[in-house]
Amino acid sequence: MRVLIAKDYDELSAKAFEVMMGIVKNNPYAVLGLATGTTPLGLYRRMIEDHNAHGTSFAHIRTVNLDEYKGLPKDHPQSYAYFMRENLFLHLDIEASNTYIENGMAQDEQAECACYNKLLAEMPRDIQLLGLGSNGHIAFNEPYTPFGSETHVVDLTENTIKDNARLFSDISEVPKKAFTMGVKQIMQAKQILILVSGANKAEAVCKTVCGKVTEEVPASVLLLHPNCILIADKEAASKL
Ligand code: GLP
Repeated sequence: MRVLIAKDYDELSAKAFEVMMGIVKNNPYAVLGLATGTTPLGLYRRMIEDHNAHGTSFAHIRTVNLDEYKGLPKDHPQSYAYFMRENLFLHLDIEASNTYIENGMAQDEQAECACYNKLLAEMPRDIQLLGLGSNGHIAFNEPYTPFGSETHVVDLTENTIKDNARLFSDISEVPKKAFTMGVKQIMQAKQILILVSGANKAEAVCKTVCGKVTEEVPASVLLLHPNCILIADKEAASKL
């Protein structure tokens, strides 16, 4: 794992943009694994600005997202499908039909997971973008998720529900379950880019980078990936 420390969030986003656009400019048919959360927003803003200023095209790019809340329809403002549309896709020339995310409303969980597994197998990702949960989770793979896991439905931990409550008007509105890509599938991406910002992630960064590879800290599996870059701002890197 290559660890880059940025002086602030802006520099973190600029470095992430360089890595992401290196992939897009090299291969206009690339498959991008994308993430939600507040951390990638600076990167997404830069991608939009670059598209507007330089016409970088996403017409042939395909994307696949990590996770989605169970029970939220894709037009619900707190759904990850909505987040991706509003914060990225609507502002690029990407085809909506080339963007994939789990269907949070699927009644048959098993069938939805099998369908996503098939999709991931057919669309090898050139890069997988990740954020980091304050408990070390990646996507919605909470501590002790087996490293061999594929797409599954997860019961979110109290910690994650609390962390994500800031984006809802009340903690009671945060869904208790979510669909998530598995750890095994995250690791199958050719390259991984994980972005971490803020002092509340410092402990998790430390456990990810300096500790041992353990299912207790899902992100620690990334130490085993041959091409992984972690970009942290100064606050997130403060315990390294
Ligand atoms: C959520 C998402 C993760 C994301 C994490 C961190 O739990 N499922 O994919 O990485 O939040 O989010 P943030 O970047 O807002 O701190």
